[in-house]
Parts: sequence; C-alpha cells; structure tokens
Amino acid sequence: MPGGDLLVRGGTLVVPEGTFEADVLIEDGTIVMIGRGLSPAGHEVLDARGMLVLPGVVDEHVHMREPGLEYKDDFTHGTMAAAAGGVTTVIEMPNTLPPVDDADKLRRKADLLSGRAYVDFALLGVLHDENLDELEGMLGAGAVGFKAFLGPTTGNIPPPGDGSIYEALEKSSRLGFTVAFHGENWDLVRMFTERVRSEGKVDPLAHLRSRPPVCEEEAAQRIALYARRTGGRALIVHVAAAEAINVVRRARSDGVEVYAETCPHYLLLSADDYERYGALMKVNPPVRERDHQRELWRAVNDGTIQTLGSDHAPHSREEKSGDIMSAAAGVPAVQTFLPLMLDAALKGKMPITKIPELMARNPARLFGLYPKKGSLSVGSDGDLAIVDPKAEWTVKAEDLYAKHPMTPFDGLRVRGKVVYTILRGVVVAESGRVAISEPRGEWVIGRT
Ligand code: DOR
Ligand code: ZN
Repeated sequence: MPGGDLLVRGGTLVVPEGTFEADVLIEDGTIVMIGRGLSPAGHEVLDARGMLVLPGVVDEHVHMREPGLEYKDDFTHGTMAAAAGGVTTVIEMPNTLPPVDDADKLRRKADLLSGRAYVDFALLGVLHDENLDELEGMLGAGAVGFKAFLGPTTGNIPPPGDGSIYEALEKSSRLGFTVAFHGENWDLVRMFTERVRSEGKVDPLAHLRSRPPVCEEEAAQRIALYARRTGGRALIVHVAAAEAINVVRRARSDGVEVYAETCPHYLLLSADDYERYGALMKVNPPVRERDHQRELWRAVNDGTIQTLGSDHAPHSREEKSGDIMSAAAGVPAVQTFLPLMLDAALKGKMPITKIPELMARNPARLFGLYPKKGSLSVGSDGDLAIVDPKAEWTVKAEDLYAKHPMTPFDGLRVRGKVVYTILRGVVVAESGRVAISEPRGEWVIGRT
C-alpha cells in the first residue's frame, strides 16, 4: 500500500535522548526530513503546536487471538484498538490455534492477518520441546523472534525442557534473534495451584497465592544462567516480582544479554485492588503487593526494565467472570497502553523520554525492526503518536475496540490524550477513534 505524504508542524518531538521542537516531513510513508521551519511544498500539513510528537508505539506483546480463538477477539478488533491508542506496530504472540511452531504455520498466519491489520504487525514463533529444528525455517519465513512459555497460561503450550532452552539460546547467540520467555516455573505453579485448590478457598487473593514470587525467581535465574553461558539474548516478559527483577539487574551488570519487560497493570495495580476487581484483573503472572510495584518502578527508572509491553490478552465475558481460580488470565490492554503510561509520565512517575525508549526503540531493536520501526529519524517509517499533554479524559471500557470490552481501568481519569496516530504518513486514528475505512497495516519482517 502506498505511504502518505504529511508535514507535521510545530510539535515537540520526544525521543529517548530528550525533547526538542521540530517539524517532521513524511514522504511516501518515510520520514525524509526533521527540522525547524520546513515548508509544506504541496504536502498536507498537520498542526502539532502544543503537542508532543512521539514515535508510534511498538507493542512487543499482544495476543490478538487469530486464528482459532476468534470468540475471544480477532485481529481486526485488536489492531483497531492499537491504532486508537497510538500503537503503530504490534508483535503478535504465537499462542493461537494452532500454535505457530513451524514456517508453514507462520506463513499461513501472516497471510490470514494481512489485509485485516489496521497497524503494522510482526510475528513470533513458539519454542517448545519438539520444534527446535524449526527455528531457522521460521526465521526464514519472517519470524522476528520466538516465545517460550515456561509457565502454564492460555493455550497450555508445554514448556521447553532445559536442553531445548539452552540450545535455543545457543542459536540465538549464533543467529542474533531474541527469545522471549514467559518466566514462571511450570512445576512450582502446578504445586502451589493444587495447594490453593485443596484449601477450597477462592477469595480474591487465591490466584496471587497460587503463583508466588519464587515461580518467577526460579525461571529468571535459569534464563539468566543459560543466557550467560551461551551468549544468547533473552527477554523475560511481564515481570511482576521484585525477586525476578533482582536476578535481571545482577545478570545485566555482568554484561549478560538478559532483558526485562513489565506491563502497565503491574505498575498501576496492586494486590489491594483484587477485592474490587476480582477476576477482571487476573493475569499471569499475577499483579502482586505494593512492595513489588515499587521495585518495578525503581527498575523502570534505573534501566533494569528495558521494555514495556501491553500483554493485550482478551477473553470472552464468560471466561472473565466467576471465581478467580477458574477465570481466564488476561485483559484487553493495547488501547490503554500508551494512555496509561503517558498519564504516569506526565504525573512524574518516570521521565517522558522513557516512552520512546521502552515502548518504541528498545522493543524494535530486540526484534530486529529498528530503525525502520521505533525511531523518529530520517529514513524511518513515518509512524507517529501525537499527544496533547494538557488534555484530561476518562478511560471507558465501552470505548475499547475489543469484542468483549473490559478493563480494570474503566473510569480512571488520565492526563495526556493521543490525538493522532499516524501510520507511514497516514492518519489512521484521531481522538481515540479509527479514522480509515480500510485496513492498511502491513506485515513487517525483521532483521536479526
Ligand atoms: O495473563 C496472561 N494472558 N498471561 C499470559 O502469559 C498469556 C495471556 C493470554 O494469552 O491470555
Ligand atoms: Zn502475554
């Protein structure tokens, strides 16, 4: 699809290194010039005075449920939600049906999703015990990395054993790809879950007790050890426990290529909220006590946490109701991802420059999409999120594009509004609503 031409004039650019006023000229979908006082020369002009101009968010962690789980949500709804929330690239997880575990399934998934995408997308393959030989094939077919589910969660994909993890990280070292890990120890989760179930109590904190921090700590230690010994690159996604953060901090200070991601729900909710939200805020790993939340913020600010992901994980309303132990884990989150983190930054929880760093540049780098994606620079795709930092508004579940719109942030008053989402020079959403009638997102293939 041809890219657009657009001059974004007078905004304040926000990049990892700082903020500065400049115009951005996009031609045929690519940023061709950044500077003061650029003249339109026939291009459409978007007045961004008083606004922040951020790189479009690269959400490295979404589960858009297609193929196979469309009753939960689908790619059309998911990518419309992304566009509405300032996300211009999503990296889609492989726990769909069938799980994406070989080149053929990856190609078929890409074919299916192309033509339905309202934003650009990249695909991960899964790593399990039976498909180590398929990794090169999946890379060749366009996978930008791999995901290994060490703990049980939606899809119940069996975890790779230690030998497979080690060998995958050896390949990572050789070929340069990233392995993303769901970092919980399967057997410990199973044991603690059985223990909680045998107590027969399904109070709102039961899910939290069924997955204590040691589950994350053990997995993080194993991942960090294998990354250290192989030289491979590991990203531990949705870190919720302070203990796991400490493992990552120590390993990183020794130069090990281990990265940590956390998500807005771990930064903004705590165990105190289970009473109020119950299964609505159930995610794996669980949202933990305030001490953990404090450590996560510290890690965002000291550089231990290198990326943020939304972990957009929609389910049907039925699956999210009932008692917390039997409810599904995950919430639709891609649309609220940038708004929630903007609000946090504008209220001083982290510098605003952490947004382009943790939500655009770093994820794009880890998955071989940089600098085409995740960067406000000449030669990069013209993907922008333009934000009014003074606007205040209220998050409403009913405004979500998800098939089953639900969020624990319903009713939350936030600062900073995504006014325009621009995908390769074209305004794809305005003031939280999708502004194009046909999808124009494309499949992006990485470079490891
Ligand atoms: O809460 C979660 N939901 N955590 C995961 O790891 C998977 C996700 C899903 O796919 O539902
Ligand atoms: Zn996830």
